[in-house]
Amino acid sequence: MNILILGSGGREHALAWKINQSPLCSRLFVAPGNAGTSQCGENLNIDVNDFDTIKDFCLNENIELVVVGPEDPLVKGIYDFLRNKRTGGDWTGIVIGPSAAGAQLEGSKSFSKQFMQKNYIPTAAYAEFNELNYQEGKQYISKHTLPIVLKADGLAAGKGVIICNTVDEALDAFEEMIVNKQFGKASAKVVIEEFLQGIEVSVFVLTDGVDYKIIGHAKDYKRIGEGDTGLNTGGMGCVSPVPFADDIFMAKVEERIIKPTIKGLQTEQLEYKGFVFIGLMNVNGEPYVIEYNCRMGDPETEVVMPRLKNDIVEMFVAMHKGELSKVDVAYDERAVATIMAVSGGYPGSYEKNKPIQFFPPQEGSGEAVLIFHSGTKHLDDKIVTNGGRVLAVTAFGKDIKEAAKRSLSKLKEISFEGMYYRTDIGYEFIH
Ligand code: AMP
Ligand code: GLY
Repeated sequence: MNILILGSGGREHALAWKINQSPLCSRLFVAPGNAGTSQCGENLNIDVNDFDTIKDFCLNENIELVVVGPEDPLVKGIYDFLRNKRTGGDWTGIVIGPSAAGAQLEGSKSFSKQFMQKNYIPTAAYAEFNELNYQEGKQYISKHTLPIVLKADGLAAGKGVIICNTVDEALDAFEEMIVNKQFGKASAKVVIEEFLQGIEVSVFVLTDGVDYKIIGHAKDYKRIGEGDTGLNTGGMGCVSPVPFADDIFMAKVEERIIKPTIKGLQTEQLEYKGFVFIGLMNVNGEPYVIEYNCRMGDPETEVVMPRLKNDIVEMFVAMHKGELSKVDVAYDERAVATIMAVSGGYPGSYEKNKPIQFFPPQEGSGEAVLIFHSGTKHLDDKIVTNGGRVLAVTAFGKDIKEAAKRSLSKLKEISFEGMYYRTDIGYEFIH
């Protein structure tokens, strides 16, 4: 089948790498893609939010499967658009991603908290406020235990969550969001919740809204600095499997969180045929949901796809036919680590178009080291930087220590002006 992936990050390169290995894949396109995805398929100069052009392309090139990488087009309703919910039927392919209604699990913190509450899914206690009950919100903050977590309701490019250690800090952040409209409409509502103390892990599920399969889990490292210090980023690295996410913990996740989530999708009639990314906090061995995302993570995909032994296209087709329950999921027994090389200055301002020197990666499956491109592009005959996060180096090992060490030694062979990466990815699990 002809397949189209939407997006241009390391996530999309990892998906393209995986999909390209499937005997079911005939032609693979990535829109807009990066210098790495062009090694797996054909890049297209189409924006992920240009729904009309995407649909025309699907019709003209006989695309049978569209895999949506980022959240933005999903929240804006690409699933519904391509599935002709609004425009009257002509294209009948498979779209991996929820409907706009289902994507609200990520698109609105208020919606997802209500969803969890209605479905008895463990999460932090919360309240929500807007312009109308702003004064009540201030009182709520003043009486709350610290730290306290403020979340802009809508998508805020990963910047909408603020963890405050003092009441003054929280009141200022609250005023910024509600009164000064820091994130525009996205902060017209603010969720205020208790701080959960623990260690995070993310679990990835593929579902057709009835059945589901766990396709992997990972821990990511969000801060720019060593030892989880400094500003938040899109993610500086990941490891999988996570030692504390053992059978006992994962059984709790399945019973208390995944099953009620899928059931909730049904009771609330949310059409959902795609990935659910469940961000969890392990609080003394008990899982709590921090957030849902309606897509795969980046750089989580760069460890989840290499560990997954199944043919992912076969899984998509099984999902489409309502036959997910027949799929047996198998993982590579080895540990995987990925480390992101980023542009100097990221997550603040940074320069682009820096030539990257590296030895070409082995792109087959089962290799010990894989290089997934993120912000890269071709310029003349060179590959140059084209974003904050530039590339992810994924490595296998007998344990996280070996995997991380292997990734670091590959990173030493790569260079571009201003290149930075963390050297401590997986540190909690390395002794
Ligand atoms: P989110 O955008 O919801 O992923 O939140 C960003 C990050 O903030 C999460 O990955 C956590 O590290 C942290 N966070 C969010 N909510 C909480 C909470 N209730 N308690 C502790 N940390 C949180
Ligand atoms: N790495 C976090 C995310 O993709 O949301």
